[in-house]
Amino acid sequence: MKLGTCEACPKATRCAKQVHLMRKADQRNVSIDSYPEILPARWEKPNQEQLAQQERHLDGLAAFLPNGDAARGEKLFNNRDKSKCITCHLKGEKGVRLGPDLTWIGAIRSERDLLEAIVFPSASIARYHEVVSVATKSGKVLSGLLVKETVDKMFLSSAKGVVQQIAFRDIESARYSNVSLMPEGMDKLLKAEEIADLVAYLKKSKPPAGGL
Ligand code: HEC
Repeated sequence: MKLGTCEACPKATRCAKQVHLMRKADQRNVSIDSYPEILPARWEKPNQEQLAQQERHLDGLAAFLPNGDAARGEKLFNNRDKSKCITCHLKGEKGVRLGPDLTWIGAIRSERDLLEAIVFPSASIARYHEVVSVATKSGKVLSGLLVKETVDKMFLSSAKGVVQQIAFRDIESARYSNVSLMPEGMDKLLKAEEIADLVAYLKKSKPPAGGL
């Protein structure tokens, strides 16, 4: 027996007739503002040379990891002018819910993953935090993180937290992006030692043994 279909009730009972009538009524009410389909990110052929170059760059930075200092990393993480991490991420009681919550990130990511996430954010994008790019019927292109939706609108946030609303009926097409909202180039803004401090701090961020 399949639940949720008419086969759930014996044929020709009052219940089956009722379900049939309800379905008919439901189909008449199809809303013109139905939720737009968001297409998956375009597949791009991996550029082997670029990937190898990124790996070499990460290898170079990884050499600094053993000297990473979690206490220095915590300070830098909370420095909204220098690292800006806390302007996009929740960490315990502090921060902003735009990127993933990093409170217990050390429990699910290796040091190498964390390093890669900081230096090459677009190399692997955390689930449910993909940028959506929308083309409107009036020819505009808007993009950002999908932070909220109502029955007829979606709300996209920019990296600076500016939220734009778009009515479903104005959407021509929508697609996830391959590019992270997290800025590239952290390794140009921060020294290799500072990145190692951030990784040490995040790797230490685990729930206490024995549970919360
Ligand atoms: C403009 C907002 C923004 C800033 C600033 C920012 N991030 Fe992010 N971060 C994001 C978003 C959005 C994602 C999810 C997409 C992705 O994986 O790249 C993310 C992902 C991550 C991840 C991967 C999380 C996971 O679940 O794998 C880590 C680690 C991280 N950020 C650390 C940092 C650190 C450390 C800093 C400061 C040096 C920082 N971020 C600054 C927005 C930001």
